Amino acid sequence: MTPNQVWHTWTFQPVVVAGLATAAFLYWRGVRALWSHGPRGRGVRPWQLASFGTGLTAVFAALVSPLDALAEQVLWGHMVQHLLLITVGAPLLVLGAPVVPMTLALPASWRPRAPRWEAVRWVGTSLRPLTHPVTTWLLAGAALWIWHLPSPYQAALRNPSLHALEHATFLGTALLFWWTAFHPSGRRRLALGADVLYVFTGAFQGAVLGAVLTFATVHLYPFYTGRVAAFGLTPLQDQQLAGVVMWIPSGVVYLLAAGVLFVRWFRAMDRQARRSGSRTRGTALAPPLLLVCLAVAVAFAVSACASTLGRTPPPQVPGGRPNRGAQAIKRYGCGSCHVIPGIEGAAGKVGPPLNDFSERGYIAGELPNNGDNLVRWIMDPRQVEPGTDMPDLGVDEAQARDIAAYLFTLR
Ligand code: HEC
Repeated sequence: MTPNQVWHTWTFQPVVVAGLATAAFLYWRGVRALWSHGPRGRGVRPWQLASFGTGLTAVFAALVSPLDALAEQVLWGHMVQHLLLITVGAPLLVLGAPVVPMTLALPASWRPRAPRWEAVRWVGTSLRPLTHPVTTWLLAGAALWIWHLPSPYQAALRNPSLHALEHATFLGTALLFWWTAFHPSGRRRLALGADVLYVFTGAFQGAVLGAVLTFATVHLYPFYTGRVAAFGLTPLQDQQLAGVVMWIPSGVVYLLAAGVLFVRWFRAMDRQARRSGSRTRGTALAPPLLLVCLAVAVAFAVSACASTLGRTPPPQVPGGRPNRGAQAIKRYGCGSCHVIPGIEGAAGKVGPPLNDFSERGYIAGELPNNGDNLVRWIMDPRQVEPGTDMPDLGVDEAQARDIAAYLFTLR
């Protein structure tokens, strides 16, 4: 698919569209019922309505807009999609406090009546372990890590039902996670202060996964090989960009949330201290703790930026397709003279090994290492360095471009 086609592809999966429309309808109906029997803002405040609406829009953007098609072409697109579900859509939906309005919106006969409350309570109690903060934290982490392992990840890209399951687990576990963090219904499962730690450590696991993707020197998801070139990236660059998307913007959202919860905690302690007429030890501890959290966050962000900026991007070969390059390398038997990572049997000792080739300053110690020069070298080494032992293999320009693009993925 070309980038142009991608931007015009909308994904209308009936279940997704119907789910979104139903949620919007029920919520709106419930809010109208609440507001028509009292002042505007009764039960659901206007900002909560706005939050729920924006949350639904984010899920719509992730699953229906052209972003869904983009996610199948480039890894970074897929990460933006996950980001929208996990760190934008889910927390905004939770902040909208949808349970009361949505229950009210159900037809009266569907709502739990007095005798059935017993059953509802029973379900609630038996689900309690599932909504324990430790469980929700672990579930969100497990969903993130397991789905990003190369085989489940690529299996999901090949199979639409698995892909839907992947997105459902992301959204479901993220809703549980944020629900526990914000407890909008007022039934708190986490002490003030503990919720700060909960969100802060939640940010950490996403950041670690982002760092893994950013710094991995192997391409983890071959599914994208041959697709990303149309978007002007090598597979490894795409993977690094995806890692940064996962690392920085989502880290910022989690830290913001932790900051808001921190302020709430601090205010509560302050009120308590004023009531008892003394500064408790907890209140005295709060400012230094906030400073430590902020310092860790800033150090983390700075090191992340520094390390991504510090890596010079590999040289470019316009029009070069790395996966075709790999095939051409096999056909021309470059591996009989060179060690070339990722090419089966390429272990020759006649020429220099081509590991980390994109990070090499010069080609054959002569030419600055860039796209044009490498293409020239591959087409006709003797023209560049008369008397070199590398033979002219009669590679044409298009193939030389593909080969060069492949060599630049080696870092
Ligand atoms: C017959 C053996 C032989 C074959 C086949 C061969 N090369 Fe080479 N290659 C060499 C030698 C020897 C050198 C070192 C040349 C020099 O430094 O003058 C070299 C150098 C290079 C360099 C520069 C390496 C550096 O460290 O600067 C690249 C890139 C390269 N070859 C790519 C290829 C590609 C791509 C193919 C297949 C299309 C290929 N070679 C096929 C022998 C070979």
